[in-house]
Amino acid sequence: MQLEQIRQIAVIGLGRMGHGIAQAFATAGYQVRGFDANKDARASLHQRVRSNLNDFVANDMLNHADVDPILERISVTATEGAAAADAHFVLEAIAEERSVKQEFFSRIEDAVADTTIVASNSSTFTISESAVNMRRPHRAIVTHWFNPPHIVPTVEVVPGPETTEEITETTIALHRKIGKLAVRINGEIPGFLVNRVQMAMIREVWDLYERGVASREDIDAAICGSIGFRLATRGPLAICDFGGIDIWSTVYKRLTPELRSDHELPESIQTLLDAGHLGTRTGRGIHDYNSSSMDEVDTRRDDVMLKLSKFLHDQRPTKD
Ligand SMILES: NC(=O)c1ccc[n+]([C@@H]2O[C@H](COP(=O)([O-])OP(=O)(O)OC[C@H]3O[C@@H](n4cnc5c(N)ncnc54)[C@H](O)[C@@H]3O)[C@@H](O)[C@H]2O)c1
Repeated sequence: MQLEQIRQIAVIGLGRMGHGIAQAFATAGYQVRGFDANKDARASLHQRVRSNLNDFVANDMLNHADVDPILERISVTATEGAAAADAHFVLEAIAEERSVKQEFFSRIEDAVADTTIVASNSSTFTISESAVNMRRPHRAIVTHWFNPPHIVPTVEVVPGPETTEEITETTIALHRKIGKLAVRINGEIPGFLVNRVQMAMIREVWDLYERGVASREDIDAAICGSIGFRLATRGPLAICDFGGIDIWSTVYKRLTPELRSDHELPESIQTLLDAGHLGTRTGRGIHDYNSSSMDEVDTRRDDVMLKLSKFLHDQRPTKD
């Protein structure tokens, strides 16, 4: 499958990730068919995408006149088969359960053409695990987006050992064409690339919190205002160059033995779990969101991300 042959996209699973992914493809001009096993998710798709698109309009990142045409490029089907039929690229963003993924990849094979690319948005399962029962796994691949997917630029593209080079290159080209920062991950390592790095930081911040090194508010503020601020513009390897490899090698040797390295779930996370404080979704996690609705919390986050995204986009060098 070549990039030019791809016109029709199918997104299966229209939850937090799937609806934003459908939006990203439709915004770039692709026809998108979506299916979700849950009828409320199907019924609310256009309204959720419209609300996202209105945020883009409010931030001067989209013309108001483009909203309806984008929504018209998205249709919802009553069955998975109807969404996938004729699709050149099918993405699943369904439940993160091994058996659900494996059943999907077995099933979808008979619903699509031999040439159709079938992708998984799984954060956890490699394509070798999800597509284990496929007869033709050479066209299966992971495309790992980040939440909110219609805003966060990176998509990790992770081929399995059976995925052909053509499928990998077309998938990368497709995501670059729709404006995503598609990066190729070589090797099916757990967590791919980004979540491994993120988890190393997450383990350390919970440890610092439990040791009372700083308050939860100060921990978040310190990281946002320092490494978070820098990382929005320069990658961690480049940051080593700016600081100096000599300085970083001294810091590396001094600090790495001090960092948390065990595999236990921190006690404070377990306490929150036991109390049902799961984060913005339940109104309380490590922080308390009780005075705001979940929609308000999401909208505030998305608004700042959109402004940052626009600013960073405007900084890109022009070709001419
Ligand atoms: N939430 C994140 O931050 C994030 C980030 C990257 C990747 N992912 C991955 O994306 C996928 C979806 O995550 P999400 O956060 O959107 O979950 P979600 O629960 O918000 O949405 C999943 C949707 O899939 C539907 N669904 C479940 N099983 C289905 C099936 N067999 N057929 C059709 N529809 C089905 C559900 O009804 C639901 O609407 C998961 O694999 C997850 O690991 C999530």
